[in-house]
Amino acid sequence: VKAFVTYLEAKGHEQGSLLAKARYAAFNERGTPLEDIARQEVAMGFGLLSNTIPSSFWFLFDLYSRPEILAKVREEIRENALHINEDSKIATIDLADVRDQCPFFISTFQESLRFHSRGAPTRFVFEDVLLDGKYLLKKGSTLHMPALAMHSHPASWGSTSTEFNPTRYLKSNPRKAGGFLAFGLSPSVCPGRHFASSEILIFTASLILRFDFTPASSSSSWIAPPLSLALAASTTPPSTPFFAKAAPRDEYKGYEWDFRVTRGKAQFGLVIG
Ligand code: HEM
Repeated sequence: VKAFVTYLEAKGHEQGSLLAKARYAAFNERGTPLEDIARQEVAMGFGLLSNTIPSSFWFLFDLYSRPEILAKVREEIRENALHINEDSKIATIDLADVRDQCPFFISTFQESLRFHSRGAPTRFVFEDVLLDGKYLLKKGSTLHMPALAMHSHPASWGSTSTEFNPTRYLKSNPRKAGGFLAFGLSPSVCPGRHFASSEILIFTASLILRFDFTPASSSSSWIAPPLSLALAASTTPPSTPFFAKAAPRDEYKGYEWDFRVTRGKAQFGLVIG
């Protein structure tokens, strides 16, 4: 908070992003004290970074450690979202194509979130509520909903609840509503989920087309590193570095890479709740 106070007093945000400027203006117009604006920026930093980075790590881990799924995802992106210009040797990935035409990739991403989400969306109980005729939530108490328990519960996920199933969220594979907390749930569901998913998907798409990764550990196998429980994040990062060797793939040797964000259907079939 102190560092943000110094930054704001020095008007650092005026050279910052559009987001930084807009947030400052919105708080300032409403007479928010500088120290409280700084507190909001700390929270925003957590929101922006603390989940996106570990979610990206685990998604890559889940794909590279499952070669059959990786091959299928590569094929889907290559066919539906990659645009190759042979003359200029530019390979472009289109985000709208990823979102609209790569359902297997998006379903795999959500399964990765289900596996690694360790958050516990929290609510205050404003009045006595009896759940399911047997659980009394008392007015004035705090309710935590741990994703670890709910993401593996057979009542929501069936007998395969502990298995990594990349097809779980395909439209052709309808699931029972409820039990998915990776982005929280209404009324304060994560407002950054579309942005975060888009950046993770396009970053991952470009890495998996361009590189093979192998673990650099002595056993050279994909053994999940231990979790760091020190950070307030919904997707927990590893507590130790996980070293991997990257080898550029021959398929797109000599290409330059580019990205574009076209409008597409402008809808994103992410699961919440
Ligand atoms: C994969 C990445 C992300 C994950 C897994 C994630 C997850 C979550 C979760 C579980 C919540 C709590 C929701 C609830 O209480 O029901 C939350 C809230 C929030 N997230 Fe995210 N988030 C991610 C990325 C982002 C990004 C990139 C931003 C900002 C651009 C962001 C901004 C926020 C904000 C502002 C809230 C508070 C919403 C409120 O209380 O009304 N998140 N997020």
